[in-house]
Amino acid sequence: MKLPREQRLKELGIAPVWRLRGRSAPATPACADGADGADRHGRILQMDWTQLREAVANCTACELYKTRTQGVLGVGDPHADWLIVGEAPGADEDAQGEPFVGQAGRLLDAMLAAIGLKRGENVYIANVLKSRPPGNRNPAPEEIAACMPYLERQIQLIRPKIIIALGRFAGQTLLHTEEAIARLRGRVHRFQGIPLVVTYHPAYLLRNLPDKEKAWEDLCLARETMKKID
Ligand code: URA
Repeated sequence: MKLPREQRLKELGIAPVWRLRGRSAPATPACADGADGADRHGRILQMDWTQLREAVANCTACELYKTRTQGVLGVGDPHADWLIVGEAPGADEDAQGEPFVGQAGRLLDAMLAAIGLKRGENVYIANVLKSRPPGNRNPAPEEIAACMPYLERQIQLIRPKIIIALGRFAGQTLLHTEEAIARLRGRVHRFQGIPLVVTYHPAYLLRNLPDKEKAWEDLCLARETMKKID
């Protein structure tokens, strides 16, 4: 007999994922204002998918709304077991409104295929930042802080069984650490009880082919971890 998911996680020594709040979401999402910190965070953590999409589309919580074409919430199965988290939309993603649609995205699709996964099928893809930093510069700490509640809420709604963080920013942000990616990759971490594997960002792998082998090891680690949960 299949055990309930939380019990299976407990038996694997993994703390249960969040208990969602019982209160229903507010009728009008009001997240555009970055000035009301905790309140805004609390409101976002009660949103449903429609509200979240609308909130990201209208968000002005950091300066990036001034230069982006559109907010990019994420793509895929809202009940996916696998959550992939990248850094931020680039030019292609900003134009098309979907994460990882450029060259790095094609490599990501190939990486997923290598472990038997397909974009949109039991996989959800999101970024830490929902708006493109101009010139593809690194995300600023205040931009990450303003955007994280959206990703937190996505994770609550999806309840993935595993998270793969692509690159330094996603790994460091989700794990609240400044450790180098070389030290973060290759092992299983936890994000609020959910197993999390960090690996190299596909854009980095396009420039550093030898590290593809290490990324492959990380993907195998994620797949093995998932097998133990299933
Ligand atoms: N790089 C990312 O981190 N995310 C994207 O969506 C595209 C490129």
